[in-house]
Amino acid sequence: MSSSIRIRVAVADDFEELAPLVTASQLYQKKELEGKILDDESAFVKQERETVKKWLDDNSKVYIMALDSKEKIVGFTLLFDDRVSQQGTIHDLYVTDTMRGHGIATELIARAEQWFKAQNINRVVLAVLKTNRAAMKVYEKTGFLPYEDNYVYLRKNIQK
Ligand SMILES: CC(C)(COP(=O)(O)OP(=O)(O)OC[C@H]1O[C@@H](n2cnc3c(N)ncnc32)[C@H](O)[C@@H]1OP(=O)(O)O)[C@@H](O)C(=O)NCCC(=O)NCCS
Repeated sequence: MSSSIRIRVAVADDFEELAPLVTASQLYQKKELEGKILDDESAFVKQERETVKKWLDDNSKVYIMALDSKEKIVGFTLLFDDRVSQQGTIHDLYVTDTMRGHGIATELIARAEQWFKAQNINRVVLAVLKTNRAAMKVYEKTGFLPYEDNYVYLRKNIQK
């Protein structure tokens, strides 16, 4: 990773700059990766912004950000810590498109692991779309492996 990139935990004052990036990540996830059509994109954006604001004040959630030499946010990851199950979740990971391929996501994951360890969490889980090859590669490189648990996902289509 370039030495001009700095990683730090977000604070409430980062809201105005962080919220558009989080929203871009969610829109990318829904539209590009999941192929969904949003009925009301502006309502979706508004709701995402409210969520970011709420989670910046929530001790069990943390945004870790990558900043360039001009202190511009160029990537982030969102972490959930569940102290009851002693399990952490990487809930989101995003790097702006012009900054991809420089090891920023790898560094964000390394910092995420440090943060989880500091909370006494020793297992980290995440979900990634099978078709998201870039993300699969990043997680593979950073040591994440598919796992089986006791749950099976079931579905039934109901006629209208
Ligand atoms: C996935 C994403 C976070 C990767 O960020 P990044 O900073 O470019 O990743 P890194 O530079 O740390 O790459 C780590 C490894 O993955 C590989 N990789 C990254 N993007 C890749 C791609 N598009 N195709 C193939 N390999 C890729 C890199 O080559 C690198 O391996 P290397 O060390 O052998 O070169 C970024 O592409 C992104 O924001 N995508 C959109 C959001 C997204 O899909 N998030 C994941 C949600 S689960």
